[in-house]
This record gives sequence, C-alpha cells and structure tokens, in this order.
Amino acid sequence: MKKDLIGITDLSKEELAELIAIAEKIIEDPVAYSEKCKGKKLATCFFEPSTRTRLSFEAAMLELGGSVLGFSEANSSSAAKGESVADTARTISCYADIIAMRHPKEGAPMVAAQAAPIPIINAGDGGHNHPTQTLTDLLTIYREKGRLSDLKIGFCGDLKFGRTVHSLIQAMSRYEGISFVLISPEELCVPEYIKKDVLDGKNIPYVETSSWDELPELDILYMTRVQRERFFNEADYMRLKDAFILTADRLQDAKPDLCIMHPLPRVNEIERAVDEDPRACYFKQALYGKYIRMALILKLLGVE
Ligand code: CP
Repeated sequence: MKKDLIGITDLSKEELAELIAIAEKIIEDPVAYSEKCKGKKLATCFFEPSTRTRLSFEAAMLELGGSVLGFSEANSSSAAKGESVADTARTISCYADIIAMRHPKEGAPMVAAQAAPIPIINAGDGGHNHPTQTLTDLLTIYREKGRLSDLKIGFCGDLKFGRTVHSLIQAMSRYEGISFVLISPEELCVPEYIKKDVLDGKNIPYVETSSWDELPELDILYMTRVQRERFFNEADYMRLKDAFILTADRLQDAKPDLCIMHPLPRVNEIERAVDEDPRACYFKQALYGKYIRMALILKLLGVE
C-alpha cells in the first residue's frame, strides 16, 4: 500500500477487498485485535467539525489497543497563529505514528503527506474527497447486499459539494454492472469532471434527474445533506435545502431489499419515521466506519 490515503483511487481493487476482509475478521472476533496497536499513537487533526469520522477513528485506535491525541478545531491548534499545514504535520509526526486529518481546504492532506514521514489519512478535504467514508460505504454495501457489482445506485441531494458522493462514484465505477441515478436540483448536480473523467470515461450508464421517478428501480439509495457551509449565498441554500426529502410514504414504491444509506449528519432530508424501516442502514453504516478504519490503521502501520 501507499504510505498515505489521500483519495480512494490510492487503493487498488485488491487493496479494497483486503481492507473489507480484515474489517469482517475484526467484526467476527474483535478481541483478537485488541492489542494489535499497543504502543502506537493516532493523531486526529480536525480543522473542521466532525462527529463520526473523528470519534470512529479514535474508537478504532483505542479498540486496537493504541492511544490517541489531537485537536478537534483549528482554533485550538497553532493554525490559529498562522502555522502552515506542512509544519503542523511535520511537528505532529514527532509525537504520533499516524495522522487522520480533516481540513476545509481541498488538497491540505496531500500537502501534509508530502511534509510528514508518517502515514496521513485524508479524513475529508473541503468538497473534494473523503476516502474513509467511501471505505465505510463499500463495507456497508458489501455487508448489506453481499456484493459490490451489479447494482443500481441512486445518489440524492447535494451532488455538487458532496465529497462522499464523488469518492463513492469513483470507487463503484471500478466494479462490473454498476449504473447510477443522480437525483438533485440542477444547481447541485455532479461536477463535470466526475461525469467526464469517471462516468463517460469508463462508459458507466447514468441518468441525471430532478425527480423520484427512478426510486422503484434502485438497489441502493444514498441520501446526502445540502451543505450549508459550502454555499456562498444563504438565499440559495434556503431555496435548495429541502428539495428532496425521503419519507416513509415514498418508500412504499421502493424495492423490499433497498439499502438506504447516508454518510450523516442528517438535517431534514430523511424523515425520522424512515429510521424504523428495516431498509434504513445509515446508523449501521456509522458503526461499520469504525471497523473499516481499524482495518486501515492496521494496514498503514504495517501491523497485519
Ligand atoms: N460522515 C461524516 O463525515 O460525518 P462527520 O462529519 O460527523 O465526521
């Protein structure tokens, strides 16, 4: 494996399969892994808010028997005094064995990776990439559907700024028999570079739509939040934020084995009543995130 994980394409299909296999072994027998990282330290450097990514990384390292240190906002690090990302990463390399970094600026984890001698994991950079969410999503799809091929996957909501969407499209496009339904307001559609380089480039079938018409055909529905923090104009956010809301009523038309995913946090885009539907997988998805991050830490540290 490469030293760092910056984008999902840093991992080959074989490496993805290996990480999923390790995560499954951990789920089966967590005690067997409880001391694998004894003496190792993970630094979580979060320049942007997070619940799932930061805490699942920390839980992952603790459950591997290692320790964690770090910060959860830019203002509690020397970034507030003007320190560069490169200097921060190089300094933290003196104290930790591996770094998980989230940053609002696209490319910041890559800069950190060039400066630091230890592995850097991109835990989300602006609207760009979120590869460990993609690993989480792949493990969820594999466990819920039993395969990563021959699936019709719908993405719904903010497909423009949704870094989880971009990374998962890139990842799933490598498997056989995949097609996509891209459901969003026109202003929040998938960026051109994803359509041109990934979808058209690999001849992946997809449709773009601003309606729910394709819902009955989907094997997976990946809902996303309209991200207020990425808008320059509050009026645009207010106009678009509730464009697509998944309700229990609407799900009457969907397949009985549909897998409903969401990277979370959710705001309004999934009605609370949907949580009781057995097809709702988003909280299981959050749990799988811990196991796949355990597998990733093991691989990047060369422990297993
Ligand atoms: N899915 C995700 O990245 O959640 P957080 O922002 O809470 O980490």
